Amino acid sequence: MPFRILFISAEYAPLAKTGGLADVSAALTRYLHRRGDDVRVFVPFHRRVANLALDLSPVEYLQDRELRLGEHVYQYRILRGAAPGSDLGLYFVDCPALYDRPDIYGGADDEPRRFLALTRAALDSSQRMSFAPQILHCNDWHTAFGPLFLKTLYSWDRLFAATRSLLTIHNIGYQGVFGAEHVDELGLGPSAGLVHQADLVAGRVNSMLHGILYADLVTTVSPTYAREICTPEYGHGLDAFLRLRGDSVVGILNGVDYDEWNPERDRYLPHHYSRTELAGKADVKRALAARLGIAAGPGTLLFGIVSRLVEHKGIELLPAVLPGLLQTQDCALVAVGTGERQYEEFLAGLVRQFPGRVAYCAGYSEELAHWVEAGADAFLMPSRYEPCGLNQMYSLRYGTVPVVRRTGGLADSVVQYTEAGGTGVLFDDFDAKGLGWAVATTLELFRQPERWRELIANGMQQDFSWTRQGALYVEEYRRLVGAA
Ligand code: ADP
Ligand code: GLC
Repeated sequence: MPFRILFISAEYAPLAKTGGLADVSAALTRYLHRRGDDVRVFVPFHRRVANLALDLSPVEYLQDRELRLGEHVYQYRILRGAAPGSDLGLYFVDCPALYDRPDIYGGADDEPRRFLALTRAALDSSQRMSFAPQILHCNDWHTAFGPLFLKTLYSWDRLFAATRSLLTIHNIGYQGVFGAEHVDELGLGPSAGLVHQADLVAGRVNSMLHGILYADLVTTVSPTYAREICTPEYGHGLDAFLRLRGDSVVGILNGVDYDEWNPERDRYLPHHYSRTELAGKADVKRALAARLGIAAGPGTLLFGIVSRLVEHKGIELLPAVLPGLLQTQDCALVAVGTGERQYEEFLAGLVRQFPGRVAYCAGYSEELAHWVEAGADAFLMPSRYEPCGLNQMYSLRYGTVPVVRRTGGLADSVVQYTEAGGTGVLFDDFDAKGLGWAVATTLELFRQPERWRELIANGMQQDFSWTRQGALYVEEYRRLVGAA
C-alpha cells in the first residue's frame, strides 16, 4: 500500500548538508518515492541551495504566504524542484529573512524560529495543497514540534484526522533548547499548557523533548542507540522521557546510498575497483598520497578520518595515541574535517610534527571524503557516542577497515574480526588505552596480508542498502497507520 508522507528536514544531500541527516533524508525519501509512496519533502531554501541555480518553479497557491511566530511575521513562498538524480519533487521554503545566510545553522537568536517556521510552513502548505498525509515524519530537534502542532494548531482540520506522527532522532546531543521568553512563538494559545511546564518554570523550552512527548512513534538511527538513549549515560537528560515511551522508541539502522558510495563507479575517484579487482584501491591510495603530499607506500598503514570535529566524535582521544604511533610505526594519517577549534588545531599541529606523514584538510569537501574512503587502509571513528554513523558503512564497501568504538550504530554495523569472520576492529572503553589497543590490533592485522585481505573482503560483502533499511521504516508506517 503506498503511503502519503509529509517529510520535513533541515538538510538534504547533496544540496544542503553538514552531516548524516542530509544523507538519510535524501536516501530514505528517494527510496519511498521509488516504492510508489507520495512523499512530499519540505526543506529550507538555504542560501547554498539558492546558489545552485536549480530548475525550480513556484507552487501555485503557495506564494506570498505569511507566517506569524509570536510577534515576528515572516513572508515566504514555496518553490518546487526535483531532487538531484531523481524525479522526486522537493518543496523549498523560500523565506530570505530566515534562510538567506551563509550557513545552514547559525546559532543566532532566531535559530529556533528558523525551524519552527519550516515546520509550520510544511503543515500550512500541506493544508493549502489539500494533501492529507498519513504520516508526518519529522527529523531531529528542528522539526520536533511537528507532532505537537498536529495535535493542537491543526487538530480542527479533518485533513489531518488520520495523520500519525513520527520523530526520528538522529542525534540526541542537539536538542534545540531556547529561552522561555520565546514560548509564545509556538503560537499554541489555549494549548500552551502542553508545553513541558517544569522546563518553562526553569526558564527554557526544549524542542526535542516535545517531539519525544507527542510523536506517535519515536525512532532513532540504530537499535543500540535506541537502547543507549534510554540510559542516563547517553540520554543527554531526556532518558527518563524516552523510557516512559516504552515500545514506542524504535531503532532502525540507517542505510547507505550505494549509487553515491560505490568504488566501482564513484564519480569522484580517479581509479575504480571492486571486491574481486582491488588493484584500483592501491592506485587511489597512491593518488591520494601524492595529492596531499604524504609518503604512504603499500607497506604504510594509512589511517583516514572524515568527520565533523565535534566533541562526541572522540577526537579528544587522538592526542594521547597518534603521536606515539606515528613515531614508532610505519603509518600515516589523512584527516578531512571542520569543527571545534581545539580539534582543528590538534590536527594542524600533528601535520607540523609529522610532515609528509600526516595531512589535514580543514573544511568540507565531498570529493576528498570519497578519496579518503577509497584511498585509506583503515578508517578511524573513536566516537564517544554515535547514533548511527555512515562513514563506517561507506568504509566497509570501500575495503577500508573501520576501527571504531563499540557504541550506537558502530556496534550494529561493524563486527570484530577474528578467524571466524568479522569486518573491523572495535574497542569498548572510551579512553586512550582502548583506542591504543584498537590501532595496535589494526597494525598487527595489516602486517598479515592474507588476514587483511580476508578482513577487507568480509567488509566489502556487507549490504546496508536502503532497500533493506527503508523497508523497516515502511513497516513502522504500516503499524502506525494500522493503529489509526
Ligand atoms: P554525523 O551526521 O554525526 O556528522 P555521519 O557519519 O552520520 O555523522 O555522517 C557524516 C556525513 O558527513 C558523511 O557522509 C561524511 O562523509 C560527511 N562529512 C562529514 N564531514 C565532512 C567533511 N569535512 N567533508 C566532507 N564530508 C564530510
Ligand atoms: C547524526 C548522527 C549520526 C547519524 C546521522 C544520520 O548526525 O550524529 O551518527 O548517522 O545523524 O542519522
